[in-house]
Amino acid sequence: MAKNQKPDASSELRRILIVGNGGRENSIAWALSKNQSIEQIYVCPGNSGTANYKKCICLKPKTGEEKTIIDECQRLQINLVIIGPEVPLAEGLANKMRERGLTVFGPDKEGAQLEASKDWSKALMIENNIPTAKYWAAESTEEALEILEEFNQPLVIKVDGLAAGKGVTVCETIEQSKLAIRDAFSGKFGSAGNKIILEEKIEGPEVSIFALCDGEKLIVLPPAQDHKRLLEGDNGPNTGGMGAYAPAPLINEKDLEDLTELILIPTLKGLKKKNIKYIGVIYAGLMLTSSGPKVIEFNCRFGDPECQALMPLMGEEFASVLFSCARGELENAPKLTFNSECSVCIVAAAKGYPESPQKGDRINIDVDSNSSLQVFHAGTSTDKSDNIITSGGRVLSVVAQGDNFDKAFDLAYSNLKKISFDGMHFRRDIGHQVRDI
Ligand code: AMP
Ligand code: GLY
Repeated sequence: MAKNQKPDASSELRRILIVGNGGRENSIAWALSKNQSIEQIYVCPGNSGTANYKKCICLKPKTGEEKTIIDECQRLQINLVIIGPEVPLAEGLANKMRERGLTVFGPDKEGAQLEASKDWSKALMIENNIPTAKYWAAESTEEALEILEEFNQPLVIKVDGLAAGKGVTVCETIEQSKLAIRDAFSGKFGSAGNKIILEEKIEGPEVSIFALCDGEKLIVLPPAQDHKRLLEGDNGPNTGGMGAYAPAPLINEKDLEDLTELILIPTLKGLKKKNIKYIGVIYAGLMLTSSGPKVIEFNCRFGDPECQALMPLMGEEFASVLFSCARGELENAPKLTFNSECSVCIVAAAKGYPESPQKGDRINIDVDSNSSLQVFHAGTSTDKSDNIITSGGRVLSVVAQGDNFDKAFDLAYSNLKKISFDGMHFRRDIGHQVRDI
């Protein structure tokens, strides 16, 4: 061991708690369970798939209140908490946990504004010369319409706050932008719609990059490609994401290094300048435009379903790396290795998703998971007779790896046929960018 290097802290890592109930949280739990020294992984509240993964169990505190969850973490002597979704991060769950002495992977409320306020995050990008589309903020319909009139071009309309992926309207005409402005201020987004941003429309392929941060330093994960639209051919309404694959070949190793210098490092430095010690994931959604890459959004957590595609690529060190980030000492983490295969994820959604997903349908799963094939549950629960039933829009995802994308997609799609529930639907063209279809 080099002089001054502290011993690998991971030997102290035995019990982990992951907050969340989606496919993202199950895939993180599954990846962490590969680490030999971890004894138990609690997913709080988890879903009906959680207990299928080695060492993983659901933790359902009597009340879902923050205080109860924190009490449980202390009672169970949890060494590391990972907060999956954006809402508890934006509400300050990490702050409260840290105040109670817990070691947490996930930013404080202040850092979570990167995702929870588009105005805040755009300002951070401008202050730090991070390339992004031009924008204007408005706090009333009148103010927004004036900006639109002055610009006299269709603008993208985004509500400022968290809107579960429904707060963005990409407009083709000025009339559509006007309608989107009125809709954003209609009250249907609650306080998330108190402010909007109007953004210049940009064009180009989209790709997402991710950094694991310890407040000062970061390491970068393989890039991934999401599929936000509901329907094949990238049509239909935006969803949380219908499938993903990684590593996205749109970005090679050199590009990723350049994007780290151009976007990820300046973002972490910009946060630090605001006295924010950002511990967690910086997720940058990019558009590769003809005038260079531009950030279209930041998220303060792993993407869902990108995470499901990424987790099978993580080496066994992943748990130690997250723990080191959470302790603010990434320099003591073992080197994170990546499986060199291609990994793909296809989401099976419930009838009516994304508007009003049907719940309560019995799910039949006849898939033998193995080291190259996983089924990560998301919107699932069990009925009184212990049957697995649907309980959310994105019900589950089938994830597969192969030495090329065609093999990985063939494996995933052939196993998706072994899953059924009433109204199940999925896109058949996930990965069309990298497959011969
Ligand atoms: P977001 O929720 O911010 O990721 O936006 C959802 C989707 O809207 C993105 O994946 C893009 O396809 C699209 N989008 C967002 N901002 C812009 C923009 N400025 N120009 C064109 N499309 C955009
Ligand atoms: N899949 C996009 C997101 O997690 O925001």
